Amino acid sequence: MDHLLSPSILTANFANLQKDIEMLNQSEADWMHVDVMDGVFVPNISFGFAVIKSIKQLAQKPLDVHLMIIDPDRYLEDFKNAGAAIITVHLEACTHLNRTIQKIKELGCKAGVAINPHTPVALLEDIIEEVDLVLIMSVNPGFGAQKFISNTYKKIKNLKTLSELRNPNLYIEIDGGVDQNNAALLINAGANVLVAGNAVFSASSPGSAISKLKHLEKALS
Ligand code: DX5
Ligand code: ZN
Repeated sequence: MDHLLSPSILTANFANLQKDIEMLNQSEADWMHVDVMDGVFVPNISFGFAVIKSIKQLAQKPLDVHLMIIDPDRYLEDFKNAGAAIITVHLEACTHLNRTIQKIKELGCKAGVAINPHTPVALLEDIIEEVDLVLIMSVNPGFGAQKFISNTYKKIKNLKTLSELRNPNLYIEIDGGVDQNNAALLINAGANVLVAGNAVFSASSPGSAISKLKHLEKALS
């Protein structure tokens, strides 16, 4: 399948989110990536349910909600009610990950698991068949516009091998420092969903930055 693009609204203009959501609606973006941070799991706080509900009212694309919060089970239903189509939790934040994933699926959402840069893909072996999506963090979570960690390529290849054997429809999503320079390499390594915050919202034309990140054929050949 062609790869998907999920622009992260973390770098959007919070004084005028409507404008940026409408830009995403008109763009070639596939999903909208919504980063939730609790100030405990990561050293930053982003936004909560009221903001996500407001985004949902305007968004014409699925909300891809990335929870960087401890003990996410407490809030899964609230995120579903706020408008999440995909809910991704961190492996490092879940004591009973299998239970959390089942709960997300029971709510009718697609279920994802995210791993930090230091967490090996091998730790996914006993959950890979249960999830719809694996998010590989290519920066340490907490902030937009950080430098891409190149160890990610090896992890994508390992995950691609695992998914071919055990879950061929898996979404392999890469989050952090994705830009024009590495996007094609990430897709070549096996990724099929790219998150991009800074590369989209800091561009002079976010719509054409999205278009370039969607059409990588030249770079791939
Ligand atoms: C980081 C977030 C990312 C971030 C990506 O903690 O999970 O989604 O917003 O932003 P860029 O593309 O700017 O690295
Ligand atoms: Zn994210």
